[in-house]
Amino acid sequence: SDAAQCPFLSGTQKQTAGGGTRNRDWWPNELKLNILRQHGKSSNPYDKEFDYAKAFESIDFPTLKQEVIDLMTDSQDWWPADYGHYGPFMIRMAWHSAGTYRVGDGRGGGASGTQRFAPLNSWPDNGNLDKARLLLWPVKKKYGKKLSWADLMILAGNCALESMGFKTFGFAGGREDVWEPEQDVYWGSETGWLDNDERYDTSDGDLEGHLGAVHMGLIYVNPEGPNGVPDPMKSAHDIRITFGRMAMNDEETVALVAGGHTFGKAHGAADPDTYVGPEPHGASIEEMSTGWKNTYNSGVLDDAITSGLEGAWTPNPTQWDHDYFDVLLNYDWELTKSPAGAHQWTPKNPDAKQAPAAGGNGTQALMMSTADMALKTDPKYLEISKRFHKDHAAFEDAFARAWYKLTHRDMGPVDRYLGPEVPQEELIWQDPIPKVNYTLSDADISSLKKMVLASGLTISEMVRTAWASASTYRDSDKRGGANGARIRLEPQRSWEVNNPEELSKVLNVLEGIQNEFKGEVSMADLIVLAGNAGIEEAARNAGHTVEVPFSQGRGDASQEQTDLESFGYLEPLADGFRNYIKDELKVAAEDLLVDKANLMNLSIPEMTALVGGLRVLGANYDGSNHGVFTDNVGHLTNDFFTNLLDFAYTWNATSSDDRIFEGKDRRTGIVKFTGTRADLIFGSNTELRAIAEVYGANDGEAQFVNDFVAAWAKVMDADRFDLK
Ligand code: HEM
Repeated sequence: SDAAQCPFLSGTQKQTAGGGTRNRDWWPNELKLNILRQHGKSSNPYDKEFDYAKAFESIDFPTLKQEVIDLMTDSQDWWPADYGHYGPFMIRMAWHSAGTYRVGDGRGGGASGTQRFAPLNSWPDNGNLDKARLLLWPVKKKYGKKLSWADLMILAGNCALESMGFKTFGFAGGREDVWEPEQDVYWGSETGWLDNDERYDTSDGDLEGHLGAVHMGLIYVNPEGPNGVPDPMKSAHDIRITFGRMAMNDEETVALVAGGHTFGKAHGAADPDTYVGPEPHGASIEEMSTGWKNTYNSGVLDDAITSGLEGAWTPNPTQWDHDYFDVLLNYDWELTKSPAGAHQWTPKNPDAKQAPAAGGNGTQALMMSTADMALKTDPKYLEISKRFHKDHAAFEDAFARAWYKLTHRDMGPVDRYLGPEVPQEELIWQDPIPKVNYTLSDADISSLKKMVLASGLTISEMVRTAWASASTYRDSDKRGGANGARIRLEPQRSWEVNNPEELSKVLNVLEGIQNEFKGEVSMADLIVLAGNAGIEEAARNAGHTVEVPFSQGRGDASQEQTDLESFGYLEPLADGFRNYIKDELKVAAEDLLVDKANLMNLSIPEMTALVGGLRVLGANYDGSNHGVFTDNVGHLTNDFFTNLLDFAYTWNATSSDDRIFEGKDRRTGIVKFTGTRADLIFGSNTELRAIAEVYGANDGEAQFVNDFVAAWAKVMDADRFDLK
């Protein structure tokens, strides 16, 4: 019968393909190679040739803006606009889209439209923003591919501000959507939303790792105060840490919170536990990817429930004005509870102004969250709040700039910015790089390479320096890279991983060549060219003729154009490609290698080829022999793989923490090689081993050399948005 043949009909199988207990369930610590596979062709519906920049530039931008502005006051029955204006709601959506960015690893942020996907679409802090995106669907539908969700969400924030009378600093398009949740972003380890305090190091009051929020499921801080305790001073501590993680200083932080909360209201008409349904990702199929269904009365306007706090900050919540600081600083506020039971603050002054009701009938008391109260309780915040209260122009300028930074910081260099509203002014957080104006002929390039090869620099030095220069690139926020040659500047030139003493020697030699060269060449180009020359020489040594692709045109940034603190975040804690790991790190070297490969936007084969190549070129940061599985350093061979896979060697840890290993000849017991976890993982992990077998096979060396050269060139050019 059919039932006997079909396991689903007979009920013996309840899971479909992909279900069941998976490797990660059995071995939770397995290497997370999945993050090097995300955003592949198979999840992207657009052609490989699709050019978003071109598509976006074809939009009639003023028309688009007007449509978004018109939408703000076109209230829909299914989610009517508070005060007849969706502006505040759209600002919150844009801010929550951008606000997941953290400068530590550059991940998160609004540049890829991930608010559409879980977990972000279902974070408690993103409550009801599913509706904000649905309100924008008619615009998205009209423009289709030409306008990404990521751009539209940020644009909607700008249009909202402008439609309520605030002059923004500018807008740039250019954010390309992804098509699946980002698997690489570490949002924390808690298994419950808003679990208290698990990510704080109680000894120093700091937050775990790069995390940008105090609880799982929040963008930043708990509005009611740390762990729901309404203590404004402690809230200030949390705000300073979390906004700092997003590269915002105190002034920018005060400007952002005050500017944002000049608009809109908080929603807490009744107890969420009684009335609010599951978040979108947990809701039933007929909810059609929406969630938080609210059964309290009408469920909307004055009956809406989002954060649980209730009320507006200012008397005119859909108008840009200076009332926020007026009411915050001039009124005395007392701790009360919202109808939903959340801690909040209400004016004590009997004659305090009121806000209109969201639905238009009557008025309602003003409100501050504990986080807002921090702006008048913390002495440093208070000083800034008072200054902004007096000096409207300073406040407006600070808010405009901070909003622009918030919403654009993760886009990378200005070469990526699109559209007619990109401001002329260059900002330090954009890591400016001067343009160069020269063209090297093929003859120039080959004579420069000859000069480098005759300079006495070793292949290892050439390769190491070029790698050090280019490998700071991180695709997460598109910062770093070889362009700008910031390897010559602080803080990069002093990083331990860059072997400062050797680096300065190499840079001196290259500067000498730059001076001697008849034409013009930037140090940024020369550093890359020297690396390429080293690789070509190493390939020749191994009997291969290759030309490493070279894209000239890099500029040299100055120290003044380099924000020390912000570049400090690019310092690698580990760089498995150079066999570097900071001593005190508790994470395994192989995990950090994959993390870095992900930041550099490398695939699994690219990572493998690069490690195998860099090892035989002797590119370890300290010149050590770990992983240098060859007798011919400086020859671009597949020796790393052949020796790694050769069972003639047995491997044992020589350090108690299992970081360093030695490989002995099985027969003689003589130590032949030493290696780190970032070496042995290519033999130990079965997927990496499968790639190593390709490169280590008898027919593998030619492919290895080609793949290495291609991956190298990709790294050297990773930041060349000026060419793309
Ligand atoms: C709304 C907290 C920073 C803009 C809210 C709500 C809370 C909140 C609890 C009410 C949500 C609801 O129930 O509907 C916080 C905290 C912040 C912060 C704790 C940081 C310390 C910001 C920033 C901006 C902003 C930086 C933008 C620059 C807004 C806007 C609304 C809002 C416009 C009103 C939304 C509406 O009317 O629907 N915020 N916020 N907030 N927030 Fe913030």
